Amino acid sequence: MAKDITKSEAIELLERYNKDPFHLRHAYIVAGVMRYFADELGYGDEAEFWEIVGLLHDLDFELYPEEHCIKEQEIMRAEDLDERLIHATASHGYALTVDIEPEHEMEKVLYATDELTGLIGAVAIMRPSKSVQDLEVKSVRKKYKNANFAAGCSREVIERGAQMLEWELDDLIDRTILAMRTCEPEI
Ligand SMILES: [Fe+2]
Repeated sequence: MAKDITKSEAIELLERYNKDPFHLRHAYIVAGVMRYFADELGYGDEAEFWEIVGLLHDLDFELYPEEHCIKEQEIMRAEDLDERLIHATASHGYALTVDIEPEHEMEKVLYATDELTGLIGAVAIMRPSKSVQDLEVKSVRKKYKNANFAAGCSREVIERGAQMLEWELDDLIDRTILAMRTCEPEI
């Protein structure tokens, strides 16, 4: 029988497969963003599950970058974790490395915000405050249009995610900044 995982077990699993502080930081940021959106979108009683999805979504990326979103399914099944968690995490590789389509609103939020948090973080770090607290949509929007800025953050993925959610791009950026404000101090 597959088991539910607690947040502290998820952190333990995350830290077993990820040592790079950059990867860990990303996992914690996405986890915080997912928790924010769970509350924001009316899934408050599932907020911890959304957060765990954020913690574990890139579980395999550090050790198996070529098999991203594929290897983590194997790892999680070996840990006897729930298929719902496996689907939720692996579906952020949709149209990239896997053919698992984001279905639940949570999965669409992960898809849309994962790369975007990287881009927003890159804009924030250039500011004197090095913070998202005083960051505005227009600053991000300007950098977003420059394809060379944070080129690793796929605009194609971000825009596909916005379409899945049926949110305007500006709205997605705005809400993701707000989400990142709520979890920045803890990281
Ligand atoms: Fe990610």
